[in-house]
Amino acid sequence: MTSKSIDQDTNTPLGDGGKRYLVTAALPYANGPLHIGHLAGCYIPSDVYVRYLRAQKKDVKFVCGSDEHGVPITIRAMKEAVSPQQVVDKYHGMIKESFEQMGISFDIYSRTSGKVHHETAAAFFTKLYNDGLFEEKETEQYYDEKAKTFLADRYIVGTCPVCASPNAYGDQCEKCGSSLSPEQLINPRSTLSDAVPVKKKTRHWYFPLQNYEPWLKQWILEEHKEWKNNVFGQCKSWLDNGLQSRAMTRDSNWGIKVPLPDAEGKVLYVWFDAPIGYISATKELTDKWADYWCKEDTKLVHFIGKDNIVFHCIIFPAMLKAHGGFVLPDNVPANEFLNIEGDKVSTSRNWAIWVHEYIKDFPGCEDVLRYVLCANAPETKDNDFTWKDFQERNNSELVNNFGNFVNRTWVLMHKLCGGKVPKLHDSILDDTDKILVENIQHSTLNIQHSIEEFKFRDALFEVMMLSDKGNKYMQKKEPWIVAKKLESSNASPEGGDLEGATQKSIDNCLHLCLQLTANLAVLINPFLPNTARKMLHMMKVMDKMLDWQNAGKIKLLSVGYSLREPQLLFRKIEDAEISLQIEKLKSGIMKTEEQSQKSEVGHQTSGLKPQIQYDDFAKLELKAGTVTACEKVEKTDKLLKLEVDLGTEKRTIVSGIALYYKPEEVVGKQVIVVSNLAARKMKGIESQGMVLTAEDSNGKLHLLKPENPVDPGSNIS
Ligand code: 2FM
Ligand code: ZN
Repeated sequence: MTSKSIDQDTNTPLGDGGKRYLVTAALPYANGPLHIGHLAGCYIPSDVYVRYLRAQKKDVKFVCGSDEHGVPITIRAMKEAVSPQQVVDKYHGMIKESFEQMGISFDIYSRTSGKVHHETAAAFFTKLYNDGLFEEKETEQYYDEKAKTFLADRYIVGTCPVCASPNAYGDQCEKCGSSLSPEQLINPRSTLSDAVPVKKKTRHWYFPLQNYEPWLKQWILEEHKEWKNNVFGQCKSWLDNGLQSRAMTRDSNWGIKVPLPDAEGKVLYVWFDAPIGYISATKELTDKWADYWCKEDTKLVHFIGKDNIVFHCIIFPAMLKAHGGFVLPDNVPANEFLNIEGDKVSTSRNWAIWVHEYIKDFPGCEDVLRYVLCANAPETKDNDFTWKDFQERNNSELVNNFGNFVNRTWVLMHKLCGGKVPKLHDSILDDTDKILVENIQHSTLNIQHSIEEFKFRDALFEVMMLSDKGNKYMQKKEPWIVAKKLESSNASPEGGDLEGATQKSIDNCLHLCLQLTANLAVLINPFLPNTARKMLHMMKVMDKMLDWQNAGKIKLLSVGYSLREPQLLFRKIEDAEISLQIEKLKSGIMKTEEQSQKSEVGHQTSGLKPQIQYDDFAKLELKAGTVTACEKVEKTDKLLKLEVDLGTEKRTIVSGIALYYKPEEVVGKQVIVVSNLAARKMKGIESQGMVLTAEDSNGKLHLLKPENPVDPGSNIS
């Protein structure tokens, strides 16, 4: 959909011939929860695009599912000491739920361990095999003689030749980022058994990508010059470097069995089966799946992250071409990566913001995350997510700009127009009014073009610019001042003429602001669907209002129609909430670093301290106390100063709980105090003891207390 000409009456993009669309989003590995990098990479953009197409009344199907095979799954199973099936069952459920909660509106979220997928992928392989398109080759690969299995590069660890980290993988060192091969590791060993891997012969089926190189060059480099620069550039570099045969099978017990006799212990390569998952998911979704996959007038669009480009632009299209009968992708709008607070996302270092935790910590703020991830999307280069930027965008762009415009319009309409849509008096429309109307139409076209060109950031920015224009319009018109003047002129004997003119100008201002609000609901809907829904509720209108053909029109709300009371669209996000998130992120990484140090030293993963004797314990004096006063320690985020009554005396105790408790919440609570701890100074305050806390799985501290209240000073043993 690259056409620039728009039918202004219907807002229907011309030139797509009413095609049907099949939109796919990369199948995430079911080896861990979803993090915000996943959302920014392909799920938010694909969802925005699909919601837009649906609003355009296009025939569109949106498919995704969990990628449940391959080394990422078996590695996770090994780490969690469970079976691969248990891993995928656990994470498939979690991921699916996170998508639903974030409003990612797949028509189907399937999984590659399903029967339909196993059959579809096996049949695909068989067709290529029967057509004689594979090369069967014997090569030497690493083998673990103790565990009696071939080893994928990830299963081999050793010392990094670059930075000397003792735990580099056979394909990459996570510490210094170097790409490695198992041969380069110093003292390589198998992660399964610690055995030194040996080379052993094995047989596999290779797909000769080089045979498709001339066709790929023509198809991508000549016929798809419109693809995004990052995508086109990566394809060009692969094609310029020359393609080679690639093994499409692996030695493993987890995956889709190679459907050939004499292929015991061999499964399909995960990157052979996963993209076929798009076909299987469509089959599960609809009996008409072949319309979407085999008819030339389908537009197939793959949304992915940049690490998936070669698979979606070169390998999968070559597979589809070899098989025959399938449409090829029309576009593959890949995003770059989203870093967090200046550092690459690393799930093993827990440097990630998990979607399920965000939803728990910011209930009702799903649209805020959608907003920030789209406004700051890594569309052309890697970008950085920071919690401060998140707060700033929420407070200044969503609350102060968009939310403020809608709220002001509603409040003033209730106050000055009796809660109903006022008339538009054409005779007194001035230039400011006319420019606002033009702006609505102009922005609609810009937003449409940007979405159709996969420039979602630009599109969202334009929506926000339009609401900013609404605020400026309101500020210029000042209907509240006009109303005041009207009031005072009513009180004076010669006020008659003024009254007519001023009430009309109030009407015009609020009529246009209301029509702009209705437009904003249509325009924001692909990006922030929950917000659009709240706006529909306030306007008392049906979902149909959100049809894209309504965008750019200024007669969406009928004169005289009464509207509901305003509802706040966004809330302010406070500094304390942000500090807590930053703390959580940092404590997550500190925890894993501590853990890995421990396991490097003595393989003690339990984190237990050495055993002590009763006499050691008896040295502690523990007493129950009651907090009688509490305040924040100045110039720190973490410390609270408590005054604790221990019955016979009051103690000052400084505790690192300020991120989790407000001072007033602590006063009156019973606590458990280590009362014979030597006093020490913290931020210039002498702390005369310590209060005990328990840490939950998120790193949050909870004060410990006796089950039932006891007298201050009671002994704890
Ligand atoms: O990179 C990944 O997370 C892969 N699981 C993406 C697969 S996309 C498609 F091919 F299924
Ligand atoms: Zn290294």
